[in-house]
Amino acid sequence: ISQKHVEILGNKYPVDEVTNVTPSILSKVPLRLHTKPGHPLCTLRGLIEEHFAGFSHVSSFSPVVSPFKNFDELSFAKDHPGRAVTDSYYVNKDMMLRTHTSAHEVEMFRKGEDKWLLTADVYRRDEIDGSHYPVFHQVEGARIFDATPEGVKAVEEDNERLAQQLAKSNIEIEDVPHVSPTNPVQEGHDPVFAELVAKNLKLSLNGMILKLFGGGASKEPLKVRWIEAFFPFTSPSFEVEVLYQGKWLEILGSGVVVKATLDTAGVQNKIGWAFGLGLERIAMVLYSIPDIRLFWTEDERFLSQFKAGEITTFKPYSKYPACYKDVSFWLPAETSLHENDFCDLVRDTAGDLVEDVKKVDQFVHPKTKRTSVCYRINYRSMDRSLSNEETNQIQGQVVSELKSRFGVEIR
Ligand code: PHE
Repeated sequence: ISQKHVEILGNKYPVDEVTNVTPSILSKVPLRLHTKPGHPLCTLRGLIEEHFAGFSHVSSFSPVVSPFKNFDELSFAKDHPGRAVTDSYYVNKDMMLRTHTSAHEVEMFRKGEDKWLLTADVYRRDEIDGSHYPVFHQVEGARIFDATPEGVKAVEEDNERLAQQLAKSNIEIEDVPHVSPTNPVQEGHDPVFAELVAKNLKLSLNGMILKLFGGGASKEPLKVRWIEAFFPFTSPSFEVEVLYQGKWLEILGSGVVVKATLDTAGVQNKIGWAFGLGLERIAMVLYSIPDIRLFWTEDERFLSQFKAGEITTFKPYSKYPACYKDVSFWLPAETSLHENDFCDLVRDTAGDLVEDVKKVDQFVHPKTKRTSVCYRINYRSMDRSLSNEETNQIQGQVVSELKSRFGVEIR
């Protein structure tokens, strides 16, 4: 990035030595797929919102947040790996692209919202393949109750109602204790209340999972399992997996909101739960969408297959041919080159024409002790046939960018 500012959603941000957002990443920010009627991500979001009727639904927050909001406010440790520039996108040292929708928890609670859902695009630096893309979408949901005897009664009644609904349905749940020594109640929480809240979380989410995954004609029960987890901003914490087409699919993280989050939001005498789920993962299995990049295509053969509000099976259309190109180089001795830096460079140069990047070889030269790596880039367009000349030209750009940005020596 040569200019002194980057512009995101009409705002200008000065760049500095930390800046690592790339033009191809920034080009995704205005697209907001989760708000495009008929788009599978938008339909899935709608179904989840339908399940959480009575909750307020928000989807308008900008992805540019401070690291404080993304991490510190949520009790992340100062040395948490997610903060690294190799893992997250920084606009500059003061601002970043949110890595999860939890970044808005404090803000939502501060508004006085007791039951809310928030859907948004989130950004993480990652390798490139058919199921990883550096931009994806999450739904965050939360519900808090008054920490009073009336609050306890309200949760108990709600749990009773939810349990009755589930009792009639074909779902088999493998559970873990609501609290345990390895998944403890927070200091300052009444253990009985915390357990009721964790139970409310599980019942609410089991209902949502049943709505999303339980639609099949199968007589087999839908299998769901709850697993102990860890998040800095919930305790106890849980992950949920769903058995779908023979595979356990991890779909969400959740837990009882830590007191510190609510304190920061100025919310007193409340206790509640939160969850966060990734829309792409779920949409890929529900719609049988084989490649995560398809969500971003403008090909009518993709978009015309979907109807707002309906989950249907995607019929793959023929892929255009793939074209593989290798690049081998000596890693520079003085600067470090993280795999994510390489992936971003490729994506930045080739955009969505790159389907996959794999490290196919690495060795240390016995005499010079220098490290050589070889990456194989799989080029394929979603929308047309790439000629060999065109691919060679893009590969040439990748190679020259590699040399100029990282000073590597091509072999
Ligand atoms: N933000 C977490 C993630 O992205 C998910 C989560 C949300 C976990 C809310 C607990 C509570 O992995």
